[in-house]
Amino acid sequence: MNKFKIWTTLLILLIAAPIWAAVGEEEGRSMFNWTIENIVMIMGSAVVLSALYLMWTATKTIWRAQAINRFESQGLSHEAAVAKAKKESFLSYMYQQLDGGVSLEKETDILLNHNYDGIQELDNNLPPWWVGMFYSTIVFAFLYLGIYHFSDIGKSQIEEYEQEVIDTDRAIAAYMAAQKAAKTTELNADNVTELTATDRLAAGQANFKSYCMACHGMLGEGIENLGQNLTDDYWIHGGGIKNIFKTISEGVPGKPMVAWKEALSADQIQELASYIMTLKGTNPPNARPPEGELYEAGATSEIPQTGEVEVGTE
Ligand code: HEC
Repeated sequence: MNKFKIWTTLLILLIAAPIWAAVGEEEGRSMFNWTIENIVMIMGSAVVLSALYLMWTATKTIWRAQAINRFESQGLSHEAAVAKAKKESFLSYMYQQLDGGVSLEKETDILLNHNYDGIQELDNNLPPWWVGMFYSTIVFAFLYLGIYHFSDIGKSQIEEYEQEVIDTDRAIAAYMAAQKAAKTTELNADNVTELTATDRLAAGQANFKSYCMACHGMLGEGIENLGQNLTDDYWIHGGGIKNIFKTISEGVPGKPMVAWKEALSADQIQELASYIMTLKGTNPPNARPPEGELYEAGATSEIPQTGEVEVGTE
């Protein structure tokens, strides 16, 4: 480096350093901090870059020296060879190296001394790129053999297959376990609980108005020839959150009451059932008379309680 280069570098550093230190200062993560935290990585990169630079200069020197030799052997003076070598591009040098062909001027040296009706044969070198590839396949074969068949680094195809079978078995087992867990935590008539949160009950009421009011009345009072009174203590299919959830989900075969699980989610059915639970004892006007059996609160049986039912009196 000459003096000029050193001074320009220093000048650039002098201007760049404060800018660099200030970047990101407001966000509390300045470039300066980042540099300190990553100092090892930065220094490592600098070393690697320097090594690459040195390799490049070394290659360039060798390339120049070889080019000069080549030109001199073609009969040029040293000065002329140096001048010509300086003009030769790296690409054409690489081409020379990879091709390895003998220059036209020297072909007579490698002419084989047979002659078939004027057809002659040159004993050219094999191109270095070709020879290089050939040798690397041999090296590759030994490396491959060592790594995949005699060491633990790489796995053979059989080992890979066996590992995959193990992995797949594990994945299947995990999937089955997850499915089983999902089944037991899934909301159903056995584990459903009555909701009390006002937003969930409001959601239940809203869905009741959309889907159930037409048959069970605006207030759950029931409608003649359509749906039952849902506000009394008498139930055909059982009262209590679990029975009500089940009736709504499964419906009543052969009756206008369909299986709502086809249209509504388990959560929505829970909301509806909980909302219906709140209707108990509200005594709406024009209520349809009680039907079914008296359901005693607290009874957990799926089967409705049997007992004396006096239809029409409550
Ligand atoms: C098309 C009319 C109709 C609609 C809509 C309807 N139901 Fe019903 N529902 C009935 C009928 C009819 C019965 C009585 C079935 C029977 O006789 O066993 C019934 C029964 C019930 C029962 C059981 C009553 C008992 O005494 O055991 C519940 C709970 C119920 N419905 C809730 C709902 C809910 C919640 C909805 C809205 C998602 C709904 N129903 C929508 C017609 C309907």
